[in-house]
Amino acid sequence: MSTLQAVKYTRGKLEVLDQLRLPHEFHYDNVATRQEAFDSIASMRTRGAPAIAIVASLGLAVELHNGPVPDGSSDSIISYIDSALDYLKESRPTAVDLTNAINQLKARIRATGEAAAKDEIVQAFINEAENIFEKDLKTNMAIGDYGAEWLRAQVGASSDKQISVLTHCNTGSLATSGHGTALGIIRTLQSKGLLQHAFCTETRPYNQGSRLTAFELVFEGIPSTLITDSMAASLFRTRGAEKNIKAVIVGADRVVRNGDTANKIGTYQLAVLAKFHGIKFLVAAPTTSIDLVTETGDGIRIEERKPEELIQITGAVVKPDGTVDETTKVRVATADQRINVWNPAFDVTPAELIDAVVTEKGAVEKGADGKFDFSKIMPERW
Ligand code: MRU
Repeated sequence: MSTLQAVKYTRGKLEVLDQLRLPHEFHYDNVATRQEAFDSIASMRTRGAPAIAIVASLGLAVELHNGPVPDGSSDSIISYIDSALDYLKESRPTAVDLTNAINQLKARIRATGEAAAKDEIVQAFINEAENIFEKDLKTNMAIGDYGAEWLRAQVGASSDKQISVLTHCNTGSLATSGHGTALGIIRTLQSKGLLQHAFCTETRPYNQGSRLTAFELVFEGIPSTLITDSMAASLFRTRGAEKNIKAVIVGADRVVRNGDTANKIGTYQLAVLAKFHGIKFLVAAPTTSIDLVTETGDGIRIEERKPEELIQITGAVVKPDGTVDETTKVRVATADQRINVWNPAFDVTPAELIDAVVTEKGAVEKGADGKFDFSKIMPERW
């Protein structure tokens, strides 16, 4: 396989990589109904803000394509699809891409007009879902270019002075339709000869960094090193060789109107540490991850997940020679199973700690008033 694909789609068929089995096992699930799409997202076999929106949209598109869809007036078909979308919206609450995709799909089926026939409405839905999927890859390539350019201009990245960066969680091909957002910028830096080294955090509790990002970096042959989340401060203090971090690059589940950003738990502490050490902090987010309705981070609903994700871990057996037996799958307790657990999946990084939000329409920096203003890149939604 030459590229990693979280989602494989042809009209009427959707296959989704089970990310809970990575990096030990490569298995695609067939997703043919809204329930299967919901389960794939809620269980985190699919994860990452853009991928969540894509799998929800295409999962329902496949169900509608293969039918049956009940007969009825245009209004009744639209409310049938609306209720399926409202159900999917509850699969995971923090990433706004899903809500934005749902709004886009609802608007598209309404644009077919009051007298539209069932097939016309279903076709409009499928076309729009496919459009969301296809557009995401172009978006990520543009984010990669704008991000690399910003780092060239602001940090002085050049082929003579390559830079090292740190990323958190997984924002790569596995979290999107391809290339990725924050990891997309790292890929683009590498392809332009601007990258010295990429560090990735383990990203406890669910290890999207060690299970997924480390896997993607190794897969792509990008010079990279894994650290635990608690090693970031020491890394930022260490100078010399490749351990000379110039920027932290992360993704987003929701950037709200003032720039406050919800992303994987642990992002906020990295932003605080970056500020202390004079390291640039970059959020890479498609405009589909921007929520112009919510004013500040206080309005973001943070998903809390079950305790097992913190006190148990899944892995494969390491053989005495140090290689991994990929056919084995073991679930291991990492704590007393009776301990109380608090397990928020995301945190909110205040806008004041963010140097730029890189979107497919360019990098947005704070103005002279110290505030982000997304009106120039999103006039239609402002
Ligand atoms: O819980 P996850 O794995 O869905 O969290 C993913 C993240 O926090 C990503 O950084 C974010 O969704 C952006 S993915 C391009």
